[in-house]
Parts: sequence; C-alpha cells; structure tokens
Amino acid sequence: MLWAGRVGSELAPEVREFLRADDAELLPYDCAATLLHAQRLAAAGILTPEELEEVEHRLAELADGTVAADHEDVHSYIEAELGDVGRKIHAGRSRNDQVAAAFRLYVADACAEADGALVGFAAAILDRADEEAETPMPGYTHLQRAQPVTVGHHLLAWVEMLERDRARFAFAAAQASPSPLGAGALAGSTLPLPPPPNAMRNSLDAVADRDFALDYLYAAAVLFTHLSRIGEELVLWTSAEFGFARLPEDASTGSSMMPQKLNPDVAELARGKAGTALGRLAGLLATVKGLPLAYDRDLQEDKPPVFATRRDVAGALGALAVLVRGLELDRGRLAAAASDPLLLATDAAEALVRDGVPFRDAHEQVAASVRAGTFQPPPPLPRLGDVAAAAAAAKERWGC
Ligand code: ARG
Repeated sequence: MLWAGRVGSELAPEVREFLRADDAELLPYDCAATLLHAQRLAAAGILTPEELEEVEHRLAELADGTVAADHEDVHSYIEAELGDVGRKIHAGRSRNDQVAAAFRLYVADACAEADGALVGFAAAILDRADEEAETPMPGYTHLQRAQPVTVGHHLLAWVEMLERDRARFAFAAAQASPSPLGAGALAGSTLPLPPPPNAMRNSLDAVADRDFALDYLYAAAVLFTHLSRIGEELVLWTSAEFGFARLPEDASTGSSMMPQKLNPDVAELARGKAGTALGRLAGLLATVKGLPLAYDRDLQEDKPPVFATRRDVAGALGALAVLVRGLELDRGRLAAAASDPLLLATDAAEALVRDGVPFRDAHEQVAASVRAGTFQPPPPLPRLGDVAAAAAAAKERWGC
C-alpha cells in the first residue's frame, strides 16, 4: 500500500474491495505519464541516467501487460512493479496529478480513435451519397411526406451531423492536452523539477478539473444522439411499411422464433446506446457537481463511464458503417414514393410567386386546388443544388 507508513493496520477486506479502482484500461497511459515524470526527476538529478533507463525499459514492458487484481489502483500497481527504482519515482508527484495526467492522455487517445471511426462511417455514407446523388426519395417533416429530395441529399445531412461531432471530439482532445504534472497532491512540490510541456497554470485546478472528460462524454452523447436519429431512419426505411431498403445479411439478425425475420438490431442498438451515453454524461456531471477543490475520491468514478463510452463509440460507428455500405436500396419504391404530384405543391405555389402572386395568395390557391382534387404539378425545377458536387466536396473535407 502506498500510504502504509501512515495507517497502522491493514485495511478491512470490505474496505479494500470498495476502494479498488476499475482502472486497468489506464495502464499504458499511466506508464506514459510515469515516464514523463521520470524524465523530470532525471532532469533534476533525483534519478540517475541509468535509473531513468531502467524505468523506461520496465514501463515499456508493463504497458503491454495486464494489471494484477490485488492493487488499489493502476498507480500502486506500476509503482510496485518498478521495484527499487519505484521507491524513488513518486518524488514530487501524487496520485492526484498522476491520475489526471494519465486520464488526459487516455481521453486524447479516445478522441483520436473516435475521429478515425467517424471518418470510417462518413466514408461509407459518402460513397452511398455519391451513388445515389440523383435517386429521388420523399423528404419528410412530422414523418409526413413533404417535398421530394434525393437519397444523396438525405445522406449528406447525416454527414453534416458527423462533421460537427468531429469538431466536438477535436475540442475535447484540445481540452485534455494540458499537463497537470507538477501539481503534486494539490500544491506543487519543493523539488526543483522542470515543468512538463504545456503545464497547467494552477495546481488546484490541475488535480480537480475533469472538464475534459465531460467534454468527451458530451461529444459522445451528441454523436449518439445523431446515431440514434440515423438508426431510427434505418429502422423505418427497412420496414415493410416503407420498403425503401433491405438490410445486408452481414449487419442484420434473425429471430430465434420467427424464421422469416431480418431485424435491424445494429440500428436499434445504436439508437438504444444513445440513452446510455446521455446517462453517462449526466452521471459524471452529477459526480463533479459540488465537489470542493482540490482532489476528492469521488473523482475515481470518472473513468468507467469514459472507458465504456469509448467502446460504444468505436463499436457503433464500425457496425453502422458495415450496415450503410451493404444497404440495398429499392430505387423503384423510393421513386414511387417520391412521385406523388402533391409533393410539388410548394413548387406550384412558388411558380405563382415567380408570376408575381404574393406567396400567401399562392399558398391559398394551391391548397384550394389540392382540396378540390384539381391540383396540377408544375414543370420540375431544381431545388437542392448539385448533390453530386456536394458529395464530392464533403469527400474532400473528410479526406476520403
Ligand atoms: N484511483 C484514484 C482515482 O482514480 C487515484 C487517485 C487517488 N488519490 C488519493 N489521494 N486517494 O482517482
């Protein structure tokens, strides 16, 4: 135990178990943060060059391994595993700045991973948007057919949402990048250690701040909100009622009882995980709320929701990319649904506006013809701009 010198007796097993952190996933990041700290110690002459080399070597081995379960947390595990030189490594640092440093590296990596998965999903959508730039489909408001659009245009709307998600993950990564090393437990250290690159300005804030984790969870919650809307559309489109698309067999499931079924479980689970993602953000906000500065053990609760979210982000984006790539569109059904002349009622009103009729009068005239069953659609005019060019521009922005 790192603090055995202060506490006379062993911890009760119940207490030990209760306090144990579920943080094994932090191992390679804590090794990286520990190496940074060791370099500072070496620069101050507290570790010899040989000791630094030993630490470096040992950390590289540890980073690839697993954490033994009998430690309070990953930090105690690493210190113990460093052996004799481990007894020197904690000079000028505390687990408070250590855990914050490691967790920041973790969150930055999770953001980079989310970005890669977003690119993968966007590339799948963009390939389809390109192919279906001119494929007509009805556009909806209130889930009622509204005006004709194209499948490409609709898919590009999904990409816009994902592009904003990308920016949110990039913001979270930037928030995670300053280093809390040097803050010690809360008030720095008397040792002459050089500050780490990009050191945080205030030692209390450095060990207390978890905004970067909240930013990550927020980015993920908004992403999942988008995935749930996309998932819902995929569920609708692949239903017999819409019949716009068929699910690819490598991304759909059967029923254990009903032999005929193909179910959109991927789309549904993406939709379902949105609730969980929102809950994790709300949970960490509630944990941090009202905590006095600087560190409090409550903050140990910050990691499991972030770990789980990272898995869900990669999992959902990867599976949805497969689904979208394999989706078989029924262009005939889409065209039939889009060809209801009434979907051009707004265009008809705009034709009258072009002839000088005030819009409200035009709206009333067209509505009257719809009611009377005498509506005549106007000759079609472009409304959406060049969808193929928009898809090409999006591919350019995403680098795919
Ligand atoms: N396992 C702890 C956490 O995740 C590490 C910091 C513990 N610090 C302390 N002073 N008890 O937050």
